[in-house]
Amino acid sequence: MTNKKTKVNVKKDPKKAVKRKASAKTENKEVATADVKVSKVKTISLLRGMKDILPKDQYFWKKMYHTAEDVCDAYGYGYIETPILEDASLFVKSIGRGTDVVDKEMYVFEDRDGSKVGMRPEFTAGVVRSYISHGMLSLPQPTKVWCWGPLFRHDRPQAGRYRQFHSFGCENFGVHDPAMDAETISVAYNFLLDLGIKTNIHINSIGTLEDRQNYIIELVGYLRTKRSYLCENCRKRISKNPLRVLDCKEESCQTVIEEAPQIIDWLSEASKNYFMKVLEYLDEMEIPYVLKSTLVRGLDYYTETVFEIYTEESEEGSPSFSEGGQSALGGGGRYDLLVEELGGQATPACGFGIGLERVVLAWRKQIEEGKMEIEDVNSKIFLAQLGEQARMKSLKIIENLRQEGIIVGHNLGKTALKAQLEIADKQKSAYCLILGQKEVQDKTIIIRDMESGIQEIVDQKKLKTELDKKLKK
Ligand code: HAM
Repeated sequence: MTNKKTKVNVKKDPKKAVKRKASAKTENKEVATADVKVSKVKTISLLRGMKDILPKDQYFWKKMYHTAEDVCDAYGYGYIETPILEDASLFVKSIGRGTDVVDKEMYVFEDRDGSKVGMRPEFTAGVVRSYISHGMLSLPQPTKVWCWGPLFRHDRPQAGRYRQFHSFGCENFGVHDPAMDAETISVAYNFLLDLGIKTNIHINSIGTLEDRQNYIIELVGYLRTKRSYLCENCRKRISKNPLRVLDCKEESCQTVIEEAPQIIDWLSEASKNYFMKVLEYLDEMEIPYVLKSTLVRGLDYYTETVFEIYTEESEEGSPSFSEGGQSALGGGGRYDLLVEELGGQATPACGFGIGLERVVLAWRKQIEEGKMEIEDVNSKIFLAQLGEQARMKSLKIIENLRQEGIIVGHNLGKTALKAQLEIADKQKSAYCLILGQKEVQDKTIIIRDMESGIQEIVDQKKLKTELDKKLKK
């Protein structure tokens, strides 16, 4: 093996200067060609409320996915994926008429055969359908599943509120025990904590169906006396779906909501004890929570425990990144009646959903405030190639190293060494491998220490061993 140590000044190398010129010419030519190709076709814009997830944000999205996967593996949740399109009635029956999601936000259309289909506005309904149709009740209970993917709600777009958004959700079936509610909350809380986002859980119990029936009589009586202060929608809700008034975000309704009778006072002893036990578990796990007597959630299927997750800084009534109180990073609760309502055997269940775009917004805010840094994901090694033969060989070297566990950054769109070294520098690579025509013929390769500029020529066969040594240092 040749192991010569040299220090090369890139700028003074005449051979490379020629190459630089040549490459500049090539690049100019590309621009000129691009100029000629300027199209007159009108570009098609993105639909309102839809967003591209771009490579520049890959750090966030990959990190969220891997964190979700790790947390779910640890807690024994299996991955499930249900279709984006379902029979529209599945969502109407689960989420409920009178909810914003069903009445105003769901994408429903007629399919080519005339049937009505809906684009999933949430995971829970589809997962319950799947639980029933695959007979998962016969599996050992609890059956725990996690989901990841896009959801669709024709909402009024603004920061943190989109028409296509992405969510991470967990659902678990078959056990009615405060420990399950607590575990569900813990998974959501710790997923966010692992990402570096500290949160508070807003929590309430809306009791069983029977508890609620008594409460609703009281609530309707109260709301009737306050009718004139309510928004138009809430006036309609008094008779149609009075609990939804408590979920209204209109400014005019807030005082009425604050002074409304509290659902907690209508809970049976059993529901109260159940809820107290959930809180005890949270205390034990040191998960911070706030009791919120008006929290009922915007979906109809909940029973007993309901919760929402807010960033630590978002004070009550001061949303962290969007107007209208839409700052919850996630929400969930128990839904013990839904499996039966959708045709399955009575099965208790609970779960949560987290809005991933909102997590990214919370994350960015922390980075802007200097509370968090993005980890460097670029490879420590970069490969620069010079000349036709070296370009050809470089892909093989990159792949061989990848198979041996070493990822090598590269840019086959560049031919000049200077340009490639600049990229290596920008990506904070510790070493740049340089492969020119001479190295191809000698079956060697140059390893350049990016900090000192010192270069070594090594045998290509010993490249992996040399890199291992350097990376260990
Ligand atoms: P959700 O509260 O309707 O609950 O949605 C969960 C989360 O999705 C919200 O907290 C929010 O972060 C995000 N989200 C909702 N709408 C939008 C939107 N238009 N744009 C961006 N993000 C949004 C559910 O969906 C329930 N299925 C959760 C659940 C699972 N409950 C029991 N199991």
